[in-house]
Amino acid sequence: MEDRAREIESIIKRWDEHAERYDEWYKTFHGAVEHYVDWELLKGHLPQDKDVKILDAAGGTGRITLHLAKMGYSVTLCDISPGMLNVARRKLLKARVLDKVKICECDVRELRFADESFDFVLCWDGMAEAAKELIRVTKKGGTVSIFLVNRYGVAIRKFSEDAISALALLRSKLSHVSDEGEKYKAFNVEEATEFFKKEGVKVIEIYAVCGMLDLLSIPKEIQESRSWDTKFFDQVTEMLLRLSKEPSVKGLSKHLVLYGKRI
Ligand SMILES: C[S@@+](CC[C@H](N)C(=O)[O-])C[C@H]1O[C@@H](n2cnc3c(N)ncnc32)[C@H](O)[C@@H]1O
Repeated sequence: MEDRAREIESIIKRWDEHAERYDEWYKTFHGAVEHYVDWELLKGHLPQDKDVKILDAAGGTGRITLHLAKMGYSVTLCDISPGMLNVARRKLLKARVLDKVKICECDVRELRFADESFDFVLCWDGMAEAAKELIRVTKKGGTVSIFLVNRYGVAIRKFSEDAISALALLRSKLSHVSDEGEKYKAFNVEEATEFFKKEGVKVIEIYAVCGMLDLLSIPKEIQESRSWDTKFFDQVTEMLLRLSKEPSVKGLSKHLVLYGKRI
């Protein structure tokens, strides 16, 4: 318990310190591409009915909540970092959609919502450990969208600095990866499908997201640039959207995003 309290304290400190800078990366070519791909994939799974209740768990500065609220959905945005939530509140206020959003400071592993409170639950932070809680608050027949760490994709990127851990990940001898002091469970597509099936979720689709731009060998100056040619942007995003669905490349991304129905 004490360990968890210390862990939470360090997570809050890390994200509070990062809060004012978090959205800056999404203004670069690389960030804008990643955001576009995430959003396009999500759009295809959103309910038609705008009266549904959506939870954006670990939703940070409201990157996704803002779009959902602008579309007319009612959203509950929760996060453990007051700093990230402050940025979100400011953006929602500026966009005049704060009334569509309930903001809640809490740990995704201990959500303060009743069972089956939401029709659609998003958690885009690789937290498989929170899966039980996220599923508990999803209505039967509702949808979950969860980011997971891609075991193969991380092993490929880790190899040059730590070959032993990379191989342990590939051999399934290592089930978690560490990133800036936080530990995440890693999956391949089959493991993710199996894991969520046991938790009562039928997988609809798993896409490869994040880090796929590496595959296109786009120069660093373009990736970091804050202005770009829209035709090139469209070409890149079409490549990545098509690749995100292609089974033969799903092992290569940093994350997998799983969409599933609670049964
Ligand atoms: C990479 S950001 C993602 C934010 C948002 N989901 C997005 O896609 O832009 C990770 C977020 O997870 C939050 N977070 C980390 N651990 C958490 C926890 N246990 N409970 C709630 N939020 C958490 C952080 O505060 C941070 O805002």
